[in-house]
Amino acid sequence: MNVLVTGGAGYIGSHTCVELLNEGYGVVVVDNLCNSNAESLNRVEELTGKKVKFYQGDVRDDALLRKIFAENEIGCVIHFAGLKAVGESVEKPWLYYDNNLNSTLVLTKVMEEVGMQNIIFSSSATVYTGDNEMPLRESSRTGNCTNPYGWTKYMTEQILGGMAHADQNWSVVLLRYFNPIGAHESGRIGEDPRGIPNNLMPYITQVAVGRREKLSVFGNDYDTHDGTGVRDYIHVVDLARGHVAAVRYVLAHKGCEVFNLGTGSGYSVLDMVKAFKQANGVDVPYQITDRRPGDLATCYADPKKSAEVLGWKATKDLTDMCRDSWRWQSQNPNGYNA
Ligand code: NAD
Ligand code: UD1
Repeated sequence: MNVLVTGGAGYIGSHTCVELLNEGYGVVVVDNLCNSNAESLNRVEELTGKKVKFYQGDVRDDALLRKIFAENEIGCVIHFAGLKAVGESVEKPWLYYDNNLNSTLVLTKVMEEVGMQNIIFSSSATVYTGDNEMPLRESSRTGNCTNPYGWTKYMTEQILGGMAHADQNWSVVLLRYFNPIGAHESGRIGEDPRGIPNNLMPYITQVAVGRREKLSVFGNDYDTHDGTGVRDYIHVVDLARGHVAAVRYVLAHKGCEVFNLGTGSGYSVLDMVKAFKQANGVDVPYQITDRRPGDLATCYADPKKSAEVLGWKATKDLTDMCRDSWRWQSQNPNGYNA
């Protein structure tokens, strides 16, 4: 069976393509490369010894989508394509609402036309409100997002949930990711952010490789064990395998289900700096700075539902995540632009 992977050239998409191909699925990718490089797909092919059918283009282009569905027998869609920089979404809200909402609307319109209504969507732990108790369960409160990026995830969940409610032919899985880090253990594919990284691990690896001087630790006065922010970091290969489990689920069920993809363990920023040094023997100079607006003290998942219903659990630990992030960065200091 073929899976259409939108945004498949990106960080999580490329790792998911590897796991899908290894499990025997055919993979068709549509990506406009606005935040990625087609080299990632060459490397997916190199790692798996299998072909990826690639269409370069925009998911908002309904003619292109019709062509893809006409040329390929697709059994399920994994919809990764989207813009994801929180700060940029505050500066350019229209861009984010247009890209992230219209891509989903056009995609699902064409899916309905062709009668293939199985979709897995990349949501985020950012949809949970900041006043929940930890760990976050799928039933925890959502909404009150603090930025347009978060609202696009929240709204897309509402759109897909509403469609599944109205039409029993839809099978929708909403996956709420916690903090994906790490890379394929080969060091051939990984995260390749453009410009200054917003997220912690790519910043750490760029300091370690000498591209940035030091890490700014955003606040050490949170109510956590060492005062720095605590998050649920999950290895991207574990996350990718969660998508394979979701493909099996979406093919066997109708309706809309939501799952957390996290480990259930929280680590602080300073825990991460320490773990990175321990795993790789590389120092990460840092300074404590002000809190970043919008940050929470603590955020981690209750992953029980995913274990029970999807039969999926994260298996890789913090050492694996730090080691694999560093292998990717040190072997590809300039990402895919070697
Ligand atoms: P990424 O930027 O590496 O991948 C997204 C891909 O989508 C890119 O290859 C980009 O070129 C493509 N794309 C964007 N808009 C498109 C469009 N209109 N048409 C065609 N292609 C388009 O990001 P990622 O980290 O792999 O994230 C994948 C998805 O998971 C995104 O929806 C993101 O919001 C979501 N997510 C990511 C994280 C994270 O920490 N990385 C956390 C929660 C949710
Ligand atoms: C951020 C986004 C979230 C998005 C997620 C994945 C915000 C407020 N939240 O989550 O919406 O879904 O990325 O893309 O932007 N940190 C530092 N120094 C740095 C970078 C981060 O100390 O240079 C700290 C942060 O304060 C936080 C932790 O590291 O405590 C993790 O940060 P980050 O990787 O950006 O992820 P989130 O903030 O969890």
